[in-house]
Amino acid sequence: MQQDNPLELVPLGPTDIQISRLGTGAWAWGDSMFWQYGKAGYDEADIHAAYQASLAHGINFFDTAEAYGFGRSEEFLGRFYREAGWPAVIASKFLPFPWRLTSRSLLRALRSSLRRLGLRQVDLYQIHFPLPPVSVESRMDALADAVDAGLTRAVGVSNYSEEQMRRAHAALARRGVPLASNQVEYSLLERQPETNGLLAACRELNVTLIAYSPLAQGLLTGKYTPDNPPSGPRGRRYGRERLAKIQPLLGLMKEIGQGHGGKTPAQVALNWTMAKGTVPIPGAKNGRQAMDNAAAMGWRLSDDEMAALDAASSRIGP
Ligand SMILES: NC(=O)c1ccc[n+]([C@@H]2O[C@H](COP(=O)([O-])OP(=O)(O)OC[C@H]3O[C@@H](n4cnc5c(N)ncnc54)[C@H](OP(=O)(O)O)[C@@H]3O)[C@@H](O)[C@H]2O)c1
Repeated sequence: MQQDNPLELVPLGPTDIQISRLGTGAWAWGDSMFWQYGKAGYDEADIHAAYQASLAHGINFFDTAEAYGFGRSEEFLGRFYREAGWPAVIASKFLPFPWRLTSRSLLRALRSSLRRLGLRQVDLYQIHFPLPPVSVESRMDALADAVDAGLTRAVGVSNYSEEQMRRAHAALARRGVPLASNQVEYSLLERQPETNGLLAACRELNVTLIAYSPLAQGLLTGKYTPDNPPSGPRGRRYGRERLAKIQPLLGLMKEIGQGHGGKTPAQVALNWTMAKGTVPIPGAKNGRQAMDNAAAMGWRLSDDEMAALDAASSRIGP
């Protein structure tokens, strides 16, 4: 494996696991429901190239879930990982179906993920979202059991509020296990973690905030306009009006990127999330996207640029 970028590593929460400052999200790998895998201009050769380009350009952190493509994302990721024969940090997630009540059901789901990945252990195992009736504390006990069983090196949560995260942190601490991460939506178009206390609490507790959809599912690349909206479910979520509203922000992102030797709006968007102290995991469908996203590392927006981007994004409104 030829590596162009030296790895820019940061610790995953308080663990000894070192991850790149930016990861690659694998939701679209094999998912035909939302991302239209196999129908929307990308296939196995493309996502394989995305994996290889990620590694080659300094990304060692990959995020998947048992839910993605009903397990196909895990199968692809595991195969690419084994074929590359190069170290990488692999994260997956538990889907908390309401009938999965016990610790045993979580361990069973994790063993199935490991089978699909072809691994004996994942690096990070996350609860995909908090869902009743199982309490936060019971889920954390199950995660601690997974660590004790040697099935995962570290544990995290996803879509947990500040209050739920604090409870998770405390429950795991009682078992002597640190909470490594909370994966939530965070981007220039979704800044709730700044206002709902989550980002500050992550800093206080030394929990890595993993930022998902950091490109607002492609909107922050600038390639979609009111006349050229994304297809499929994204087209319904982001209508013409929303696309029109974000054009001034995209204009500023282009201008700022030019001042950094021609960085793209996507690279500015990702650099912004890193400058806020989070680890973004942009989805990449092909080698070019993975390479572009990796080039968001290795440079830094200035404080003035960050302030200008904050102000422009605040003007957009909900
Ligand atoms: N925990 C959770 O509940 C949760 C929820 C959502 C996502 N996630 C995780 O976060 C990851 C990323 O989120 P996401 O996939 O929703 O959104 P995203 O990263 O904001 O956007 C990804 C999409 O943007 C486009 N894109 C990416 N890089 C590009 C580039 N350099 N140039 C042009 N277009 C580019 C691609 O779609 P097109 O080419 O089709 O535009 C790609 O599929 C997921 O893969 C998953 O691992 C987690």
